[in-house]
Amino acid sequence: MNPRATWKAALPVRIAGLGSHLPSRVVTNDDLAQVLDTNDEWIRSRTGIRQRHYAAPEQATSDLAVEAGKAALADAGLGIEDITSIVVATTTPDHTVPGTAPLVAAKLGTEITAFDVNAACSGFLYALRVGTGLVATGDEAVLVIGAETLTRIIDPEDRNVAILFGDGAGAVVLVPDDAAAIGPFDLGADGSDPSMLWTESGGTRHPVDAAVLEARTQFMTMRGGDVYRNAVARMSASSQAVLDRAGLTIDDVDLFIGHQANIRILDAVGKRLGIPGDKVHITVDQHGNTSAASVPLALTDARDAGRLTTGDTVLLTAFGAGFTWGSTLLTWQPGSPGRAADHAAETAVDADEAVGTVEQDLAGGGETA
Ligand SMILES: CC(C)(COP(=O)(O)OP(=O)(O)OC[C@H]1O[C@@H](n2cnc3c(N)ncnc32)[C@H](O)[C@@H]1OP(=O)(O)O)[C@@H](O)C(=O)NCCC(=O)NCCS
Repeated sequence: MNPRATWKAALPVRIAGLGSHLPSRVVTNDDLAQVLDTNDEWIRSRTGIRQRHYAAPEQATSDLAVEAGKAALADAGLGIEDITSIVVATTTPDHTVPGTAPLVAAKLGTEITAFDVNAACSGFLYALRVGTGLVATGDEAVLVIGAETLTRIIDPEDRNVAILFGDGAGAVVLVPDDAAAIGPFDLGADGSDPSMLWTESGGTRHPVDAAVLEARTQFMTMRGGDVYRNAVARMSASSQAVLDRAGLTIDDVDLFIGHQANIRILDAVGKRLGIPGDKVHITVDQHGNTSAASVPLALTDARDAGRLTTGDTVLLTAFGAGFTWGSTLLTWQPGSPGRAADHAAETAVDADEAVGTVEQDLAGGGETA
């Protein structure tokens, strides 16, 4: 493990709001068996997945992200004017250029800092680290969203991959809180063989052309067994690393929320860590693998199911293409946004004045240098 890829301290940051969005179309295993050589028993026994959600044709990742973001803002009791940065974790952006976060920001009605993080299925853990760092270094409230429209990059004719993935989005609002803690983090990446899980074409190495379309390499492919083994090893080791760094044991963890790729992977990680099954939250049966959206979707689902109590220690872990992996601990402290709202009220006038000046410049009314 690269010791530079770690963050040793927990930071005084709290999740003030949680939100999620799942497209309304539900696709069951039986639905897939109508169009693929597969069946419900094979899918359930190999993956634990029973159904997944598919975005409507007119929906893209930013649309799902906006809905999850609005839900998280409402949950926090904040408006978009209280947010100072937006981070969107996605590996299925609306467009190659620009990023998805600026589109999300525009739809939410703001011109604040907005950028993407792409760490595939570990994307939310990476974005959470970035968002936590932003709050710890002065941001007043950061909206971190994991959002994916994976069904756009899976080959509907490839039964190895098509059964696994779904669409969705989850979001958190992060605020400073001296009584709260997120961290330490353990994040890492091994890009030595990206072909184990990748979309080979469509980027700058292999732009889409007729040969690509013929070979169907614009779609995601994977070596399932290699991915499985790496996922179990990396999520187990990374989870243990944050526990060790925090001076905790697995017995101190109240709820374990792992990337929802496959129930067998989660079971294997749980066994390695020695965590009882009733402390492992499962949503993969309902959502399939939603990549960067899976951890915030599962966190929201756990809260809605009454599985999070104030003061609980929650262990989050994820693994994805790259390979990438990441884990962190958080102390569950829901409640009012506190300092963020106070600060927003203090600074609202200044912000309005600044926006007014820029708008004047853009309209041609301002001074030019
Ligand atoms: C993909 C995965 C479920 C396959 O499970 P598995 O137990 O390794 O599968 P097996 O090796 O027992 O079976 C493979 C066989 O099933 C077949 N098969 C593959 N997909 C199938 C499907 N949807 N329905 C029926 N049969 C299928 C294969 O063609 C293969 O047949 P063969 O033996 O005749 O060649 C498993 O490897 C896995 O979960 N990998 C990790 C995937 C993942 O989570 N990726 C994202 C990580 S972020």
